[in-house]
Amino acid sequence: MSCLQSWPEPIVRVQSLAESGITAIPDLYIKPPSKRPSPPNTNNHRDADVNIPIIDLQNLLSDNRSLREATMRSISSACREWGFFQVVNHGVSHELMKRARDTWREFFSLPLEVKQEYSNKPSTYEGYGSRLGVEKGAILDWSDYYFLHYMPPQIRNHNKWPAVPTSCRKLIEEYSEETIKLCGILMKVLSLNLGLGEDQLLDAFGGEENIGACLRVNFYPKCPQPDLTLGLSEHSDPGGLTLLLPDENVAGLQVRKGENWVTVKPVPNAFIVNVGDQTQVLSNAIYKSVEHRVIVNSVEDRVSLALFYNPKSDLMIEPAKALVTNVRPALYSPMTFDEYRLYIRMKGPCGKAQVESLKSYE
Ligand code: OGA
Ligand code: NI
Repeated sequence: MSCLQSWPEPIVRVQSLAESGITAIPDLYIKPPSKRPSPPNTNNHRDADVNIPIIDLQNLLSDNRSLREATMRSISSACREWGFFQVVNHGVSHELMKRARDTWREFFSLPLEVKQEYSNKPSTYEGYGSRLGVEKGAILDWSDYYFLHYMPPQIRNHNKWPAVPTSCRKLIEEYSEETIKLCGILMKVLSLNLGLGEDQLLDAFGGEENIGACLRVNFYPKCPQPDLTLGLSEHSDPGGLTLLLPDENVAGLQVRKGENWVTVKPVPNAFIVNVGDQTQVLSNAIYKSVEHRVIVNSVEDRVSLALFYNPKSDLMIEPAKALVTNVRPALYSPMTFDEYRLYIRMKGPCGKAQVESLKSYE
């Protein structure tokens, strides 16, 4: 698409803005009042205790059936009630997780001219970026990011990955392999929990060798007026499943729960898992992708790594036949992920507007 060849306005790096010492943010980043982060509700002390479910995956592979089933059940309720959960004892090396965060922090601390060599374009989004969507005059988010494709192997392009820090490319391989493995296990659990065959969701995604996977590393610089803007506007993730490695020290992710936004308190060495729009479609809305957003602060910057586990991009995705009945007809029309993600690439984060627009009946 021609409108995806270039950005509609010159790109400004949010990190450079933040480091320039401004005390007021440019108008371009000021959200309308209804979209700004809500002040914490100080009257309700219980708010501070709410967190998304924390699930220990240790027993998933246990020989003890009742322990295994209890873990499956907690994943099932987390998917239905929250669309989000944290996992611990997930099998990914904690040392690797730390190395991944440290390496990407190092990348973002490189001089601007080094990072600029990787500047991205909206046609693939690969590389160093500072906006989502190509709408001229859109209000922007307070973050920069690095986006790259990992799966399927044919679209992997090492030249689009940072050559510095020197360990970066090797690390991307290692980190992606491990996190994709974990996503594969979670896909099997979700499939069984939906009453489908163990491999059915994975097969609908094209099978282990063909799935799509991309990595987005988000960098949220300190912000002099964090009450007026967002690090990432409300959105649901367009793909299948997201595995997020949050900053170990700085909270920022907020998840929608009814009318409220719940701030996730990261647990050490955990990943945050959430269901994306394609899983909502395949499950015929038994599982819903849930809106989330990121708030920023004036004291510390924040880094997060999001691994997106997606269907093969040219496969038709539609509700699984076993989940379509007379009383619950197919809620969504079929669409490929290639077609689907064009929308977010053009419009940027838009809450759940897109998956809603796929509805085939009311
Ligand atoms: C994302 C996302 C959350 C975060 O990259 O899609 O929601 O905490 N990130 O950075
Ligand atoms: Ni997201």
